[in-house]
Amino acid sequence: MAQVSGCDIEVIGSTTDKDHIAVSTIEQLLPLRKKEYRSVELISSDNLNPDQHNLIEAAIAAADTAYNPYSGYFVGAAVLTRSGSVFAASNVENAAYGSTICAERMAIGKANSSGARDIIAIAISSRSDSFEKNEVTSDPCGTCRQVIYEMAQVSGCDIEVIMSDKSKDNIAIKSIEQLLPYAFGPTQLHIDIAKGNP
Ligand code: THU
Repeated sequence: MAQVSGCDIEVIGSTTDKDHIAVSTIEQLLPLRKKEYRSVELISSDNLNPDQHNLIEAAIAAADTAYNPYSGYFVGAAVLTRSGSVFAASNVENAAYGSTICAERMAIGKANSSGARDIIAIAISSRSDSFEKNEVTSDPCGTCRQVIYEMAQVSGCDIEVIMSDKSKDNIAIKSIEQLLPYAFGPTQLHIDIAKGNP
């Protein structure tokens, strides 16, 4: 709604007794890498380590498998586990638009259903054939940031989020805590996830 109103919406969080109140803006809570910042944040593909390079390649390849008849937007994501396994997937759309699943969550689900939860990095790459240029790197949506954050609690690692365009000319790397500061997590629910499933 901040895009609609043209206003960086103020978010006021309070305990019911109003003893603890925090005021932020939505851009602080869900940082977007604005176009004008992008050029200074980009890193050269020459500076990637082999794991980062392979992960980006897996994400770029996965994007081609997108099921996207509604948006024509191709997104690929690949997760890396601590033991070195890679799981890649793409976005799967639906006529009921809200039932669409993003590439990031598909890749995390694939890892989880293969018994791999120890995620330390995720690469994301997107493109659209209808865009004149495909130079934009792929910032994960808010829902995917939340799901990546959950997996960071599981692995005990501030998951590295590697965002790249198809050409690898525009690569940016952030951690999930940078992309989703003040996240809602298991501690808010007083749940110890180390105890495992109930
Ligand atoms: N999409 C993703 O796969 N990941 C994101 O983080 C943002 C959006 C997909 C969902 C939908 O298929 C298309 O991109 C357009 O929103």
